[in-house]
Amino acid sequence: MKRFYIRTLGCQMNMHDSDRVHELLCDAGMSPVDAPELADLVVVNTCSVREKAESKLDSELGKLRKLKTSRKGAMVLVVAGCVAKQRGQAMLDRMPFVDVVLGPDNLMSLPRLATAAAMGAPPTVATDWDVDQPTFLRSRASNEGLRPSAFVSISKGCNERCSYCIVPSTRGPERHRPASEIVDEIQELVSFGALEVILLGQTVNGYQDPTGELGARPSHALSDFGALLQRIARDVPRLARLRYTSPHPRYFDPSVIEAHRQLEVLCAHVHMPVQSGSDRMLKRMIRRHDRAEYLEAIRQLRRARPGLTVSTDLIVGFPTETDDDFEQTLSLMQEVPFLGVYAFKYSPRPGTAALRLGDDVPDSLKAERLARVFDLSERCMQQHLEGLVGTSQRVLIEEPNARGDGGVSGHTDRNEIVHVEPSGGLRVGDGIVPLRIVRAYKHSLVGELDRTDATVKNNLRYRLAVVSGEP
Ligand code: 5AD
Ligand code: SF4
Repeated sequence: MKRFYIRTLGCQMNMHDSDRVHELLCDAGMSPVDAPELADLVVVNTCSVREKAESKLDSELGKLRKLKTSRKGAMVLVVAGCVAKQRGQAMLDRMPFVDVVLGPDNLMSLPRLATAAAMGAPPTVATDWDVDQPTFLRSRASNEGLRPSAFVSISKGCNERCSYCIVPSTRGPERHRPASEIVDEIQELVSFGALEVILLGQTVNGYQDPTGELGARPSHALSDFGALLQRIARDVPRLARLRYTSPHPRYFDPSVIEAHRQLEVLCAHVHMPVQSGSDRMLKRMIRRHDRAEYLEAIRQLRRARPGLTVSTDLIVGFPTETDDDFEQTLSLMQEVPFLGVYAFKYSPRPGTAALRLGDDVPDSLKAERLARVFDLSERCMQQHLEGLVGTSQRVLIEEPNARGDGGVSGHTDRNEIVHVEPSGGLRVGDGIVPLRIVRAYKHSLVGELDRTDATVKNNLRYRLAVVSGEP
């Protein structure tokens, strides 16, 4: 087995897991290829958060079965992630062409089990959670291909019981990573050139220090997340940007707010899922916060960090959602206002508490509500982006643009997306660059190097671009 292909469905946690699997397979002497047709090993990292993702998986597996048959079985197929955990042995019973079924906590065994399968071992299922001795997949930092922005996992699993959500039953109970391991990974990433780190966890700001190394928790703190942010800022002074996703509104305690006030490294943006603007829905969703508490968290964050932007996740058509409930979601969107909304039609999930509430909102009404959410969200975003034309913004140049024409894209501190045309002469690796915003699209901006900014030529804090032809 020499060549592998990984297909990733779902969230940032899955993208992070897939990146780690990529590294494990490279360490095992294999090389990545761009299409399953070219691969000896195909890994599908699955998502079960909504039914749509699961049906997409089934159709993909159908195609992979045909591919495997056409190659007379000479291809190892691994199904990993949340659906693997959820279906377990049933996956093999229904799809005997799958070789290995691996839960989110079993990815470390992937190279070994895939190699065994290639040598003729019978199909295997490994989906147990590592509750007693949790392990966290660590990125293998190197100069090669390091992205300017990197994810670092700080916890896994979830102890919340939001009534619609399958995650606690696929990713298991919450487990936390020792602070020293987190800091160590960030230091290493920064030493290889990462400028931004995004801390990952299902309820990231509920972080509980498992070893006590962050010291006694102040009486006002609900978690050790504020202390962790302070520790990272102290121990990795060269880190330019620190973000986290996704926080739960209940855990914005005074120590997290204080961290936003004190730490320049913390970006002026928070992605804070709210799910609904109606207290009646929030109660049925078992979100354990109401609308007022959510707004209060934002008010405090903005007091600590003026200009902070907020994006969110929303569910429309949750069981019994009335027009009035939905109007409250729209009014919340305007009140905040959100810049960036990930909205979904409610999708009943196996084993979740919301199943007993039925699924009474017709799909056509869910679709209509979803369209109204997107319409309002776009209007909020466009108005905000248009207001930035003519300003200068510091942008971390993160990746080549999607067109692949030599242009690049990145984010501002407040998470606005900014593109630079190929003629701008910037490249990934140029760091955090002052850009003059010249145009606003619906969801993003276009910028050009701001040559009036003194830091372009002479900056100590940021590793700025040294652009050829600089005046
Ligand atoms: N139906 C629709 N959306 C869901 N999400 C989670 N579970 C469901 C479901 N059953 C959404 C929530 C969450 C995001 C990751 O996915 O908005 O924040
Ligand atoms: Fe699911 Fe709620 Fe946990 Fe988020 S906080 S993963 S929505 S149960």
